[in-house]
Amino acid sequence: ISLKQFNTFGIDKKARFFTAVQSVSDLKIALTWAKEKHINTLILGGGSNILLTQDQEALVIKNEITGIELVKEDEKYYWVEVGAGVVWHDFVLTAIQNEWAGVENLSLIPGTVGASPMQNIGAYGVEIKDVFHSLTALRKSDLELQEFDAKSCAFGYRESVFKHELKDKYVICSVIFRLNKVAAYHTDYGAIKATLAQNGIEHLNLKSISDAVIQIRQSKLPDPKEIGNAGSFFKNPSIPASQYESLKADYPEIPGYPNDEGVKVPAAWLIEQCGWKGKRLGEIGVHSKQPLVLVNYGAGDGNEIKKLAEKIQKSVLEKFQIEIHPEVNFL
Ligand code: FAD
Ligand code: EPU
Repeated sequence: ISLKQFNTFGIDKKARFFTAVQSVSDLKIALTWAKEKHINTLILGGGSNILLTQDQEALVIKNEITGIELVKEDEKYYWVEVGAGVVWHDFVLTAIQNEWAGVENLSLIPGTVGASPMQNIGAYGVEIKDVFHSLTALRKSDLELQEFDAKSCAFGYRESVFKHELKDKYVICSVIFRLNKVAAYHTDYGAIKATLAQNGIEHLNLKSISDAVIQIRQSKLPDPKEIGNAGSFFKNPSIPASQYESLKADYPEIPGYPNDEGVKVPAAWLIEQCGWKGKRLGEIGVHSKQPLVLVNYGAGDGNEIKKLAEKIQKSVLEKFQIEIHPEVNFL
């Protein structure tokens, strides 16, 4: 079947076999079937962080395991277990409704709860590792369930063990988040404060923050329903402080944010400086409001997008001697 409607880039590649699972036992049946037939399996959530460059010979398994359950609470925290197939933003809305604090800054990130630990999703000063307790995943090799705490997930900036050592070895089935009873509002990042002021918000609550984040996101990120995309295509690079200082001599306006590895430089700025912002090449291009987002206007091909990404990487390397790496998963 065509996977066009199952990836937000809207790339028209096919899956040889396709199924959706609503429970762990469904999942076991699907994995067993594939194993018996010696067919690889590929797990899909919302398809919002993948670039399809070829037809998939595999059995594509769409994770639709649902459920949001408060499993424990004490005087400070709520522990909430969420099925991997729950739409991330639906979980955020449920949390806000119940006054479970901690994920409001992560409003409107596309995709599923099950994919959220894959790259430790983040936005507006918060990452899921800040509220993550543990997850349960099914090991593909022997169909055993295994629990992972935060440490064993090895979270980093847009990274986890599931993108590296354990790539394609586990299916995440549910995640337990530890949410706060007393909110710690994160309003320092980007335009949040300005947007709250614009909205006339004097007393913060989870919903006012969520609304501000949604407003900011809608003002610059393309809606995949209108223009195919997978959010930021590249990660923001960190460079040594010495390199940043010498670049600053040539480009006094270069933005940079000091971190443990040196200085983080926005890839969007680097790409814009190389002249790519708003560039359109037939059916694909670089978004006009956010050059970190590559787009498919309709009939674009995954390989064309991959080639465009390589050209962008090359020009950033040549102009700034900075390597930028994809955030999106190539399939
Ligand atoms: P998919 O694209 O379906 O899968 C991604 C990868 O995870 C694949 O390799 C897949 O095999 C694997 N996978 C999926 N589910 C499971 C599972 N249950 N078990 C094992 N492996 C699995 N990300 C951010 O961090 N911050 C942002 O602000 C952000 N903004 C975005 C804005 C837009 C408009 C778009 C389109 C994307 C954005 N993203 C952002 C990226 C994307 O939303 C996240 O990466 C999201 O977590 C992907 O979820 P998904 O269910 O769509 O994953
Ligand atoms: N910039 C430009 N030109 C532009 C746009 C941005 O030069 O046209 C520069 C500006 O200096 C701006 C900076 O880039 O201050 C940062 O831009 P923005 O705030 O839009 O954030 P980002 O770094 O591009 C990151 C995440 C997003 C996340 C936002 C908000 C990565 C790879 N991307 O984007 O995550 O939503 O911050 O926290 O870290 C995603 O992962 O898919 C994603 C969308």
